[in-house]
Amino acid sequence: MPGLMTMMALAWASSPSSVKLCFSSGGGDKKATSANPLLKKRSSSSAHLLVGRGRALAATATATAFCDEQHQQTVELMRRLGEDGWVEEHMLSLLTPVAEAWQPADLLPTFAATAEEQRSQVAELQARAAGVPDDLLVCLVGNMVTEEGLPTYMTMANRVADINDATGCDDHGWARWLRGWTAEENRHGDLLNRYLYLCGRVDMRQVERTVHHLLRNGMRTPEPSCPYHGFIYGAFQERATFVSHARTARRAALHGDACLAKLCGVVAADEKRHEAAYTRAVARCFEADPDRVVRALAAVMRAKVTMPGELMTDGRDENLFDHFSAVAQRAGVYTAADYGDMVEHFVRRWGVAELGGLSGEGRRAQDYVCGLPRKIRRMEELAQDRAAQMEAQSVSFSWVFDRPVRLR
Ligand SMILES: [Fe+2]
Ligand SMILES: [Fe+2]
Repeated sequence: MPGLMTMMALAWASSPSSVKLCFSSGGGDKKATSANPLLKKRSSSSAHLLVGRGRALAATATATAFCDEQHQQTVELMRRLGEDGWVEEHMLSLLTPVAEAWQPADLLPTFAATAEEQRSQVAELQARAAGVPDDLLVCLVGNMVTEEGLPTYMTMANRVADINDATGCDDHGWARWLRGWTAEENRHGDLLNRYLYLCGRVDMRQVERTVHHLLRNGMRTPEPSCPYHGFIYGAFQERATFVSHARTARRAALHGDACLAKLCGVVAADEKRHEAAYTRAVARCFEADPDRVVRALAAVMRAKVTMPGELMTDGRDENLFDHFSAVAQRAGVYTAADYGDMVEHFVRRWGVAELGGLSGEGRRAQDYVCGLPRKIRRMEELAQDRAAQMEAQSVSFSWVFDRPVRLR
């Protein structure tokens, strides 16, 4: 129910003044593997991972060839959009001016208060957090770790030659979008990290080690130099993070932590604006270049939309991302069914079924993409049937001091 989720997030996220409503008063690891074992495997049980490694690589190779052939025309289109005011009007306008944007300090205990007020605000935060169950904490930590991988995501987004931010302070629309998006995203990890530190419910050293590992491990992305792939991936990722943060907010509220609900709600609202920006970019590309964009969409779908935190580990659990994903699925924070819904949403939003004048390859891509939601749903039903017949399973998460959390 994306509409409802949007309304929830927007209700939580408003002006900085309403944001300030959270408070009423003023060990050692097991031996870590030297090489990164995560780079040698693909997650197998994650809700998001719907095709095998071989197919993913084949699709990436196809995508690379596709982009090599068409690269110059694509770059010309992108350059035009970045310089003729399109990015400014349709994407930069979705970013919040700094003077109006919330900051983490608006939502957390303030140290401008007296010592007594500070103690009371922290005590209030901790009292509310005491009722948050471990499975939701695991979801929150996984989301926060993913947000903290931002340096990797900015680097990845800045790889498209000719329209990237070459100097670090380029003035064209795409460079300004990348920096503005990064600046908004940077608050997400900060906010959730500080909440987790203050709430006292998680082993922060293990959480911090996980962030450290993730940044060292990086991420896998679709075709590195084609903007179409990047925008499509961005639209899916922003929508997925919106769903995940908004659901975490809703569950936090149900467990009595109105402060956490507010934090996740404002983050979700940001993700919604970012989703809108990438969705517009893809829609604009469809207008100008439908055949190549529908092929790019099929290539991204075939390579599957992996989550950016896929390579996370805490140095102990090599399947940490799979386990986090299983907890998120069970908690209803982000599920395989959500992925099917997202594909359906974007197919409709971009009018993929109605595209005409396509090449043979374009039509095949169109058929593939339009048939995907039904296929994903069928796979999800089969996976649920299988899971229902399996015994309950729990795994210890170092993030919550090795307490066991149900996977199924
Ligand atoms: Fe984010
Ligand atoms: Fe975002």
